[in-house]
This record gives sequence, C-alpha cells and structure tokens, in this order.
Amino acid sequence: MAKRPIGARRRPRIVHTVPALRKALADLRKRRETVALVPTMGALHQGHLALVRLAQRRADRVVVSIFVNPTQFAPHEDLKTYPRTFATDVAALAALKADLVFAPAVETMYPEGFSTRIVPEGAAKAGLEDAFRPHFFAGVATVVAKLLIQCAPDIAVFGEKDFQQLKVVTRLARDLDLATRIVAGAIVREADGLALSSRNRYLKPDERAKALTLYRVLVRSAEKIAAGADGASIAAVLDDGRAAIAAAGFAVDYLEARNAETLAPLAAAGERPIRLLVAARIGGTRLIDNVGV
Ligand code: PAF
Repeated sequence: MAKRPIGARRRPRIVHTVPALRKALADLRKRRETVALVPTMGALHQGHLALVRLAQRRADRVVVSIFVNPTQFAPHEDLKTYPRTFATDVAALAALKADLVFAPAVETMYPEGFSTRIVPEGAAKAGLEDAFRPHFFAGVATVVAKLLIQCAPDIAVFGEKDFQQLKVVTRLARDLDLATRIVAGAIVREADGLALSSRNRYLKPDERAKALTLYRVLVRSAEKIAAGADGASIAAVLDDGRAAIAAAGFAVDYLEARNAETLAPLAAAGERPIRLLVAARIGGTRLIDNVGV
C-alpha cells in the first residue's frame, strides 16, 4: 500500500522549526512508522541521494535535514560561498519521494545566548581532519547531537566519504546514549573514480582532470599494502603516494594509513583492517577521500 504523504499534497513536506518537525514526527510515531534521518548541508548530489535511498530501504519514513552549519566552518573557510541550492535539492528529494525536509534557520539552531558545545575526543583527535580544521568536529558534533535530539530518528545515515566524521558521530550517539543507530553509506564516485562532493563544483576543468589522482593513488596504495607491505614499507607506499599527489599539482594535507575502527596510527605490522585517508588542496578547493584495505 502506498504511504500517505505527510501533511498536505506536497511531498516532501518542508518544516523550518523544531516544534513543526516534532509535530510531523509525532504523527508518524502514532502510526508506528520508523524514521531515518539523513543530515546534509544541501547542495545535494548523487552521493546524498544514495544515502536517502539507503535510508528508505532501512526505515518507513525519511527526513532529510538541510542546514549549512556555521559552527563547523573556520572564519577563513567557505561558509559564505558554500553552495546553497535549496529549490533543486527539494526537487531531487521530491523525485525520490523523501517524506520530510527539515531546513532550520541559523537562529533556530543557535538562538541568542546559545552556549553549549560538544567537543568530541577519540577519533575526533586522530590527527587527520582535526589537524587541519581544528574547529570542525566540535561544530559537527554539536549540530549532529542537536539534530538527533530534535528528530529522535531510529537510524541516521552518514556517508563514508567523511570517514572520520562517521566515526565521530557513531561514537557520539553511543556516548550520549542516543537511541539512534548510525548507518554508514558507501562513497559514490564519478566514472573516473572522483568521490562525489558538493565542493567538486569549485574545481576548474584542469583541476577536475587532476582530481582523480587522489582516488588512483588511494587504490594503488591500498593494493600495494594488501599485497603484503609491512610497517616500514607502508611508510614507503605512503611517501610514494604523497609524491604522486603533489606531482599532480596538489598541496597534500595528509595521506595516512590508519586502524579502520579507531583511526589510530598503525601500532603493529600486519594490523588490519586499515583505512587509507587523504586530504589535499588544488586551487582553492580542498578534497578528501578514503578507501579500505
Ligand atoms: O557531512 C555533512 O554534510 C555535515 O558535516 C553534517 C553531518 C550534515 C553536519 O553539518
């Protein structure tokens, strides 16, 4: 039987306030429907839409939040220019028959006098994104905690593209005893391997052509490590990888092999599973990617 749209004829229904969100969700709960949340900052691409489809397979109803969270941007970062494509995003979600869009204003999430922050540790201090964006995970953890509390979903879906973020929010949900289960969605890639990202639209054509180097290096490095590199030669594989990325015109922030669960540096030769993670800048654009070994 087809599911009823929430509210009037329009699908998805769009709400901007926490009381309106809670009201819409209370109606679903009354009907004992399960709810998935897909938190986003909008500028939706096929990677986000794959997360929505995954959410639809795992829950009766899907809420997508669209909120460009100012607290996860440093003053020099791209908050002002971050792509905002609300009408196109809603059209894409309508085509997928997502149920509800939560699009709060900044004042709704951070009203006058807001003075509580969640500062995660563990994977948030792994020396990866946090080393280059020290403000980032406190901003993400605070807004994700708020979204999970506001929505109280059965599951929340996060992409593996932001692998460190996925680890941080998974731990956050556990540490704060939230009833939500965090579900990971696989990275979606262009045909040549470039991981989809809202920031790819910043790339000039020549930068776009070079950008696939990141994935190529990740795959080649993962193959060499899987073929049996020990601790010492993992370091050599990564040095070669960094050199190849730099030769393509990137400034490399990091290319690291880490424990895939904790993101800690590898402590022993033969430690598995490993995750290879990279961040590098080309022109004005910073790209991240990762693969498993
Ligand atoms: O991954 C993102 O788009 C953001 O970091 C998130 C999880 C929506 C929090 O603002």
